[in-house]
Amino acid sequence: MRGRILVTGGAGYIGSHTTQQLLDAGYAVVVLDNLSNGVRGMIPGEATFIQGDVGDRALLADVLADGVEAVLHFAGSIVVPESVAQPLAYYRNNTLNTHGLLEACVEAGVPHFIFSSTAAVYGDARQVPVREDAATVPISPYGASKLMTEWMLRDAAAAHELRYVALRYFNVAGADPLGRRGQSSKNATHLIKLAVEVLTGQRDHLDIFGDDYPTPDGTGVRDYIHVVDLADAHVRALDYLRAGGDSQVLNCGYGKGSSVRQVIAALERVSNRKIDARAAPRRAGDVAELVAEASRIRRLFGWQPRHEDLEMIVRTALDWERKRLGQG
Ligand code: UD1
Repeated sequence: MRGRILVTGGAGYIGSHTTQQLLDAGYAVVVLDNLSNGVRGMIPGEATFIQGDVGDRALLADVLADGVEAVLHFAGSIVVPESVAQPLAYYRNNTLNTHGLLEACVEAGVPHFIFSSTAAVYGDARQVPVREDAATVPISPYGASKLMTEWMLRDAAAAHELRYVALRYFNVAGADPLGRRGQSSKNATHLIKLAVEVLTGQRDHLDIFGDDYPTPDGTGVRDYIHVVDLADAHVRALDYLRAGGDSQVLNCGYGKGSSVRQVIAALERVSNRKIDARAAPRRAGDVAELVAEASRIRRLFGWQPRHEDLEMIVRTALDWERKRLGQG
């Protein structure tokens, strides 16, 4: 058995996939989740589950006192437009709660921390693919709340015995190919989730938010990455820190862009059905194109994505949605 790992937000989409892979790799995992958005049934049975809030300092001190080798911090709010409407709620849940968690980690002497950051820290990147050393100019409170955490990590690591990896996720999608878990959050705003809701009869059409962007087909381009590959990147980040690696801030994408229309076409191919997709006005806060320069993470961690294929991503997302609805 390897060390004990605390996973916050382990009942959520990315946290639950990562918990599974940590268990598969032989780690003992404690999941802390308040189930505000996560789903109890997504937590693998072998993990220890504590229902509670990352903002609960007494609870944190208790959990960390038991000897935790690393914290993987997924808990947080992730809906960009909601962050524009409720900025202070986002700074509380993402920035303030992480501040408390970091203080608790330093007090308890937790040596390693892995943080779910986001490509939203770049804002409207001048150069695509975007490198880790590009300017960080977030255009939403969501992106700003995550960037502030990156700064806290940088400074805390300089002052204390703490090393960290912040992974800047690009567009995470797809589901466990074995059908054990997938995107289950209520009110998701993601393209692939909404498109599979059309295919499963839960909505009648999909809006394409802008078809006049300066991109090859006029629709927004993103770097979609399969959640299982992203979970694997976390396990490798942990191995890297345990082996003595320095703190890192890394892009986590494939380095390949797909447009909204390409995503829709891939879903139509795997489902053999048409999606009623209608051109609609641009969505506030969206950028035309965001693709990772993604070579550093491969080089440093020896990370080799296994699901780097848009059809694989959308097929597993669709299979999961059908299973969730009992249509599978
Ligand atoms: C954003 C954040 C990302 C965050 C994610 C989850 C940025 C740069 N990225 O990704 O960090 O994790 O939200 O909330 O802010 N689209 C449609 N129709 C739809 C839905 C989306 O055309 O119904 C388009 C969007 O305009 C965009 C693309 O699909 O071009 C992807 O959108 P979405 O899946 O919502 O993710 P992002 O906004 O890229």
